[in-house]
Amino acid sequence: MNSIKSFFTLVLAILFTIVASSLNAQTYSKNGMVVSSNNSSSEVGAAILKKGGNAIDAAIATAFSLAVTHPSAGNIGGGGFIVFMNSEGKTTTIDFREKAPLAATNAMFLNKEGQLINGINHETAKAIGVPGTVAGLYLAHQKYGSLPWKDLIQPAVNQAKNGFAFNWSLFKAATHFTEEGNTNAFMDGYFRNEKGLIVQPGETWIQTELAETLTLIRDNGRDGFYKGKTAKKIAAFMKKNDGIITKKDLAKYEAIERKPIKGTYKGYDIYSMPPPSSGGVALIEMMNLMELADLKTMEFNSAEHLHVVAEAMRRAFADRAEHLGDPDFNLNMPLNKLISKEFAQQRFQEIDMNKASQSDSTQFGRLYDSENTTHLSTMDKDGNAVSMTYTLEYSYGSRLGSKELGFIFNNEMGDFNPQAGVTKSNGQIGTAPNLVEPEKRMLSSMTPTIVGKNGKPYLVIGSPGGRTIINTVFQTVLNVLEFEMPVDKAIEALKIHHQWLPDYIVYEKHLLSPDTRKVLEAKGHTLRERNNMGALMGITYDAEKKIFTGASDSAQPDSGAVGY
Ligand code: GLY
Repeated sequence: MNSIKSFFTLVLAILFTIVASSLNAQTYSKNGMVVSSNNSSSEVGAAILKKGGNAIDAAIATAFSLAVTHPSAGNIGGGGFIVFMNSEGKTTTIDFREKAPLAATNAMFLNKEGQLINGINHETAKAIGVPGTVAGLYLAHQKYGSLPWKDLIQPAVNQAKNGFAFNWSLFKAATHFTEEGNTNAFMDGYFRNEKGLIVQPGETWIQTELAETLTLIRDNGRDGFYKGKTAKKIAAFMKKNDGIITKKDLAKYEAIERKPIKGTYKGYDIYSMPPPSSGGVALIEMMNLMELADLKTMEFNSAEHLHVVAEAMRRAFADRAEHLGDPDFNLNMPLNKLISKEFAQQRFQEIDMNKASQSDSTQFGRLYDSENTTHLSTMDKDGNAVSMTYTLEYSYGSRLGSKELGFIFNNEMGDFNPQAGVTKSNGQIGTAPNLVEPEKRMLSSMTPTIVGKNGKPYLVIGSPGGRTIINTVFQTVLNVLEFEMPVDKAIEALKIHHQWLPDYIVYEKHLLSPDTRKVLEAKGHTLRERNNMGALMGITYDAEKKIFTGASDSAQPDSGAVGY
C-alpha cells in the first residue's frame, strides 16, 4: 500500500512540475508566477516566491540571474524600468534608465561638418550611458522588497560561479562573435572556456569575474557597483577606451520613483511607464483611439481592423517623436493632453477608413532601433505584480567590457536623437526633447505595463524589440481586453508595426492573406514582411479564483513561465 501511495505521490509530483513550469507554453499556478527570457532565471524567481519573497523580490532575483543566463539583454551594465502594482491596485514605477555622462555633448557624435559619424553613437565607448540597473533594483528592494538583499543576488552569484548549461541561443551568439569574426578582443574571449575553446551547447558555462562583481553587489548593495573596486575598474576601462564615464558619474547615478502613466480601456485601468520612456504615452494614446474604433464590427486581422490599428500607430509615433524626452529636462511635455480621451477624439477624426494617411517625411520619424531588450513579469501569492523591462540597447550592447568585470556595457547613447534638427525619412529624428545633454536620460520605447481589473492586477505584460515594443505590447493588451484571448494566444498572435516613419506597415510572416494585402495596398499602405517581432512575457490573474496564468513567447526559445 505504501509503495502504491509513494508511486502516486511521485506521479503527482512529476505532473505538478510539468504544470507549474514550462517552456513557451501557458502555465497555471495558485501561489505566484515568474515569466522571463530564460527558464532557469524564471526558476530562480519562483524559488524566491516559495521562500516567502514578494513579486519585487522575485523580479530582482530574476533580473540578476538574467544578467548571467541571458547576457544579450539581461544586465548590470544597462538600464530599464519597473512598473509595480500591489494587490490593492496602488501603482508606482522605478526609472533606472541610463544617463548621459557629465562630459557628454551633442557634438561628440558629429564630424566637423556637423554630420553624424557612422557608428560612433553605438559602437564606441562614447556610446555607453551611465548604467542604472543595480541602482534601480536596489531602490526597488529598499522601498518594496521583503527578503534580505543578499538572498536575492546569491542565486545569480551561484549561476555565474558554478556555471549553468550553455544553451543554443548563447551558442549561436558565440559562433557569431568568434568563428564568424564579428568581434573584438573582449567578445572573442567572452564565450570561451578555461581551455580557450568556445563553450558548446550543454557544457557548463562559468563566469568567474561576473561572479566576483555580483558578489560585491551582494555584499555592498548599490555601492558594490557605483563605488569602490567596481567603480574604479569601470572608470579605468573608460579612460583606456576613450569613454567618458568617470567615478563621479557613477557615484551620482540615482534611480527615480515616478508616477505611472495611467489610461483606461472599457473599464480596465492601464498603467505603464512614463517618460523617459515613450511606451506608456503611446500605448494609452493608441488604446484611446481603439476605444473609438468600434472593433466589434470588424473581423480580427481583417484589412479594416489592421488599417485602423496602423493609423493609430502612425499618429502615436508622430506624437512621440515630436514631444517626448527626459521629463527632468523637458518640463512642459503635453503628457496629459496626449493621453486624454479628447485628444483621441481629435486624432480619430483624422483617420479615413478608406485611405492610408501620409507620414510627412520632412518632419519626424526614425527606423533603426535596437531589437534587443528583455522583459520579465512576476506575481506573488498576495496578487502583487511587477512588470520590468531592461536593456543594453543592441544585443550584447556595445559589445564592450573588461574581462576583470565580467559584464557587458550598454550602447544606450544611441537612443538620443543624434543631429539637432535633422529628421530623415529613413527614420533618424532630430527633435529637441531627446538631444544629448549631460545627465539626461535618453528616450526609450520600453513599455512594461500592468492592466488592472476591479482595482487589482489583471494582466502583466512587456516585450523587447526597440520601437516595435510599443506596438507588440499594444496589440497584446488589445488581444486580451478586446478580443478576450487567453494570454498565450494574445502573445503568439501575429502582429503589425507602423512607426510613422518610414511610412510602411511591417507585418509578421503569415499574418496577411493575399486578399488582405491587396485591400491594404489599395488603401495606400506599403507593406513589408518580417519573421518576428518582440518576445512577450505575460501573466494574467483571476483574482476571484486566485489562479495565475503565465506565458512566454515562443520567439524566445529559452524563455519560460514558472509558477508554483
Ligand atoms: N534601447 C531600446 C529602448 O530603450 O527602447
